[in-house]
Amino acid sequence: MGWGKLFFTVGSVLSSLVASQIVPTEVHNTGFNSSFVLTEAQIKAGDLSDTLIQNVQNVMNFDRTQMAFGGPNEDDFYTLPALTNSTTLKPGQVLKVERITDPSAYAIPANTGLSRIMYTTINFNGTVIPTSGFILWPYAARTFGQALNETAKAPVVVWAHGTSGFFGPQAPSAHRSLWYDNSGPFALAEAGYAVFAPDFAGLGIGKSWDGSEIPHQYHATPATAHDAVYGLRAALETFPESLDNNWVAMGHSEGGGVAWAVAEVLHYEESEFADLVAGYKGVVAASPTTRVFTGPGYFMAPTVAQMLKSIFPSFEFSDWMTPIGVARLNLIKEIQGGIGVFTQVLANLTENVKEDFKDTWYVDAFSKLGDAGHKDFKGPILVLQGTADTYVPYDVTLETVEEAWTNYPNNDLNFLAAEGVGHVPVLRATRQFWQRWIDERFEGKPLAKKGGVRTDVAPLRKDEQYTKIINSFPLWAGLPQFGYEVVLPV
Ligand SMILES: *[C@@H]1O[C@H](CO)[C@@H](O)[C@H](O)[C@H]1NC(C)=O
Ligand SMILES: *[C@@H]1O[C@H](CO)[C@@H](O)[C@H](O)[C@H]1NC(C)=O
Ligand SMILES: *[C@@H]1O[C@H](CO)[C@@H](O)[C@H](O)[C@H]1NC(C)=O
Ligand SMILES: *[C@@H]1O[C@H](CO)[C@@H](O)[C@H](O)[C@H]1NC(C)=O
Ligand SMILES: *[C@@H]1O[C@H](CO)[C@@H](O)[C@H](O)[C@H]1NC(C)=O
Repeated sequence: MGWGKLFFTVGSVLSSLVASQIVPTEVHNTGFNSSFVLTEAQIKAGDLSDTLIQNVQNVMNFDRTQMAFGGPNEDDFYTLPALTNSTTLKPGQVLKVERITDPSAYAIPANTGLSRIMYTTINFNGTVIPTSGFILWPYAARTFGQALNETAKAPVVVWAHGTSGFFGPQAPSAHRSLWYDNSGPFALAEAGYAVFAPDFAGLGIGKSWDGSEIPHQYHATPATAHDAVYGLRAALETFPESLDNNWVAMGHSEGGGVAWAVAEVLHYEESEFADLVAGYKGVVAASPTTRVFTGPGYFMAPTVAQMLKSIFPSFEFSDWMTPIGVARLNLIKEIQGGIGVFTQVLANLTENVKEDFKDTWYVDAFSKLGDAGHKDFKGPILVLQGTADTYVPYDVTLETVEEAWTNYPNNDLNFLAAEGVGHVPVLRATRQFWQRWIDERFEGKPLAKKGGVRTDVAPLRKDEQYTKIINSFPLWAGLPQFGYEVVLPV
């Protein structure tokens, strides 16, 4: 466009701003849509200090304000439809479709669109349960090769999210920025992929048809990987006009383990998923959890404990948690706190977690059943790992990768290590590499080198020049009184 035209366009936007009506503005705080307060009984039960009381209330109000339409407890989409014929209930069935999700309550990028589906999956022990997920639509489908193809369907990336929490309100499909914003789904959709993302079971729909609780089987990767593949099947069946059958799975942290476990499920259950194997192109596993109890103990013990009884019926919170830890875990369940509440209330390891919790048989037994990365898989897989990751240690991922190279030498496992990069930031720091890797899989390009390949990425400038932390997030400003925060919205 020429300068004259540009000037004209900017000029029209400005003149329309000048002409539009002035709306009274308001100061915008991040907890504006909630007034959560703990009751006296809850404060007593959790033995909470004044600081903890303040912190829990602030985090709860922030988290609630991040939810579109008040979140799963208030949004009708998450209401389970009655069963019409329970005898035919199979995993991968579509239960509900919201073809057009009102985007106005979300902080998603302009010219992306949202749909949500509810579908069946199985829990760790094979019971059929419902869960939900979203599809984030690109403006135009990514095309490969020379010519733009305006009628092309979108290639699919199954996005497996990292830890959001453990209860209904922490469904990424209910989060204004889909929980991972620019680090995951936004980046993928803006590149032209259609993003299908499961809410792992228990996040979104809290109860099954018989009224029983659906725990989020955290780090039980065979379960969460089934949420991903059954959800993909449901999504492909629902939107055949826009979704291509070719797909890649990608995930981070908890979801990095899930993505890796998707490659394991496709290997061991190839015939069950023959329909999906046909279009499968590979997996990107970023900062993947492959040894759950090498994560920080104050966090891993209670977050696995909250659901472990659903796998091992003899397990009680008191097997791992101190009496005050048990009381606090019960309190967090009662208020359905997310990851932010967990990290506040249970920050003190010695106070809340029993010193010898790792000696109980549950720890090894659960690791063996739940950890991704220790079985054969259907490649190719690209593993991304920052060397400065404090949640999923670099050494642990390297060990898992080397074990896979030794045990499955004919399989394709690429390892990309990013020097000096932390846990979530690895997704942004290495985007160009994983995006090209995904593109090449869709293009049908063979891998540069077969088998186990390591690539090291180092910062362009001196390491100390770079900021290592995430210190901002997409703040929804969708009410007229907050409109001043987005100066040129259209
Ligand atoms: C604020 O919360 C209420 C109740 O939870 C919900 O119905 C409403 O959609 C929310 N409003 C906004 C603007 O998010
Ligand atoms: C209900 O299930 C039975 C047994 O699987 C099947 O024969 C029947 O067609 C189903 N009915 C409906 C309405 O789906
Ligand atoms: C464009 O995409 C459509 C739908 O996937 C496909 O049928 C058609 O062959 C494509 N055209 C070209 C030129 O690749
Ligand atoms: C679930 O499966 C595990 C592993 O096979 C088994 O140890 C456990 O007893 C089962 N739990 C339930 C509730 O059936
Ligand atoms: C953690 O709790 C223990 C026992 O109550 C206490 O002695 C210690 O000071 C606490 N640590 C921190 C860092 O608050």
